[in-house]
Amino acid sequence: MDNPQLEIVRQSAHTLVCCGDDFALMKKSVDDLYLVFSVLTGVTIHQVNEDKDILLPTGKAISRAAAAHCLLELKRTAVFLRGINKAISLKLSESQGKPISILYAGTGPYGTLIIPLLTLYKPAELMVDLLDINTDSLDALQKVTNSLELSPYIDNVYCTDATTFIVSKHYDIVISETMLACLKSEPQVAIMQNLIPQMGNSAIFIPEDISIDAWLTNPRMEQERMLFYEGEKPHFERVYLGNIFSVNKSNLATDQFKKTIQIPENWEPFNLLKLFTTVRVFEDELLKENDSSITMPQKICDLYVRTINSADCWYEQGEKPGMCWEYKEEAELEGVK
Ligand SMILES: C[S@@+](CC[C@H](N)C(=O)[O-])C[C@H]1O[C@@H](n2cnc3c(N)ncnc32)[C@H](O)[C@@H]1O
Repeated sequence: MDNPQLEIVRQSAHTLVCCGDDFALMKKSVDDLYLVFSVLTGVTIHQVNEDKDILLPTGKAISRAAAAHCLLELKRTAVFLRGINKAISLKLSESQGKPISILYAGTGPYGTLIIPLLTLYKPAELMVDLLDINTDSLDALQKVTNSLELSPYIDNVYCTDATTFIVSKHYDIVISETMLACLKSEPQVAIMQNLIPQMGNSAIFIPEDISIDAWLTNPRMEQERMLFYEGEKPHFERVYLGNIFSVNKSNLATDQFKKTIQIPENWEPFNLLKLFTTVRVFEDELLKENDSSITMPQKICDLYVRTINSADCWYEQGEKPGMCWEYKEEAELEGVK
């Protein structure tokens, strides 16, 4: 074995792609990757108080150490690697022997969503451009590619803002995961709005779709479902209020989105209005509620505390992107009559 660290990365990538829902295997693989990457780069999750976020006009680019931490989100990392691996296989099957071209925007210090997969392919199959706004992350990533002898897979490295980056070549796949739950704070949407229109129609953007849905929930039922592990399944229900936001290849004009959700009159006992984020990485590779921090449900309003009849919601962009709300309360509506 020439390069033992490369072998660990290859084995971990293989396991993460193939291990299904075996969380013990997922954890071991992600821990093994973290050990290799942190040793090669000197970047650890414990430096989170030293490293600085970069504040952009379109949101926050999280620091090098915080971006390193994303690797440890087991299911997020596994599902993204599986989705990207499927997209690579599809594009390779169509490429008639030519290498496929990938842009990875927002690599972090480890290049978590592409570096492990490179070890499963030959340089003649893949060519990757790496991009991040954070020089320290790109410096660390260069140590990874050099030490693991992956430089033959790397074409260009750009230290720039993905929300304004001008694409100058054809990419088969563009990858960017720069988001939090409910698309808050980070510039995922602005990056998609800049990069997707510059890609050809047949190119794949990953993640393919990010959707936010509103539901009324009952806290006791939610808790009982979470704690349930054996015996009779507890009764569980929610009230669906609708999809309030989706962003994907054919849906990028976020300024045109303003939705009104109606609260049904007989809402009790479903008093908590919550938002659920779903990320479709590629085809059937999905991240759903509680699978990862980027799909954690968010509480919006407790109807026992504030009685509302309806709410307007929209996605606001800028330095602090996120969902915004305007409630129509009972008293207000009576005044209108
Ligand atoms: C959430 S981290 C994800 C790291 C890694 N891709 C992963 O999935 O594990 C986001 C990364 O994107 C970078 N980033 C955020 N906004 C960016 C922008 N507008 N242009 C370039 N890079 C950006 C940050 O510097 C950070 O490294």
